[in-house]
Amino acid sequence: MDPHPTSSSNEPKLRDHVYDGIQEYDQKLPNWWLFTLYITIVWFIGHWLCYYQLGIGSSDQDEMDKVIAEQKAARDKQTENITDEQLWAMSRDAKVVEAGKAVFMTPGMCVTCHGTELNGMLAGAKLPGLPLNDQQWKYGGTPKEIFNIVRKGSPDITKGMAAWEAVLGVQKVSEVTAFVLSHHHEGEPITKAPDSPGAPGAAAPAPVPAPAPAK
Ligand code: HEC
Repeated sequence: MDPHPTSSSNEPKLRDHVYDGIQEYDQKLPNWWLFTLYITIVWFIGHWLCYYQLGIGSSDQDEMDKVIAEQKAARDKQTENITDEQLWAMSRDAKVVEAGKAVFMTPGMCVTCHGTELNGMLAGAKLPGLPLNDQQWKYGGTPKEIFNIVRKGSPDITKGMAAWEAVLGVQKVSEVTAFVLSHHHEGEPITKAPDSPGAPGAAAPAPVPAPAPAK
C-alpha cells in the first residue's frame, strides 16, 4: 500500500490530524469485520426476543432459580427424613437452638399459645397450647413425633395447632423442634396424655385426678 497521500479516489485518503506523529487513513471497515458486527446484532435481537420477550428457552436467571429450587427441595427431603438422633444433636447445638428460639418467641407464633416458659401458661392463666416442657405428650414425645406435629399440625384442626410447615418450611420446623427438645433430655421417660389418640386408657400413668376414659 502506498503510504503517501494520493488524489486517486480509489486510494484511501490520509486524514489531516496527527497524534504523536501518527497519522491514519480514512479506510472503509473490512467486510469480515462488518459482517461479524451485523451477525452480532441479529443474534442479539433473536436472543432478546426468545429469552426475554417470548419466553422460548430459559434465561440464566431461570436456570439459576431452577437449580436453587432443586437444591432446596433436596435439602427439605433430607430434613423430612431427619432421625431422632439428628434432632437430639440439633437440640444440643447452641446456634440451632437460638434459631429455633427466635421462631418460637416471635409474637403470634408458638409463644402465643405455649408461653415463654413452654408450660402453656401466661401469668398464672392457662393458654390454649399444651405444655411442651413436661414429659407428658398428647401426640408422642419422641423428637420425630414432635417434629411431625409441628409440621402437620393437630389432627383436630379445631384445637388451633396449625400445620406450621406451610408457614415456616421444613428447615425452620426442625430448628423450632430442636428448641423444644432443648428443654428435655434424651432418654427421659415419656408419658401419654390421657386424651392421646389411641392412649391405652387407664394404663396411662397420668398424674391427673380425673380417671382416663376407658376404651
Ligand atoms: C393458636 C395457638 C397455638 C400456636 C400458635 C401453636 N400451638 Fe402448638 N398446640 C396448640 C394446641 C391447642 C395444641 C394441642 C392440640 C390438640 O390437642 O390436638 C398444640 C400442640 C402442640 C404440640 C404437641 C404437644 C403434645 O403434647 O403432643 C407441639 C409439639 C406444639 N404444639 C408445638 C408448637 C410449636 C413449635 C409452635 C410454633 C411453631 C406451636 N405449637 C404453635 C396451640 C398452638
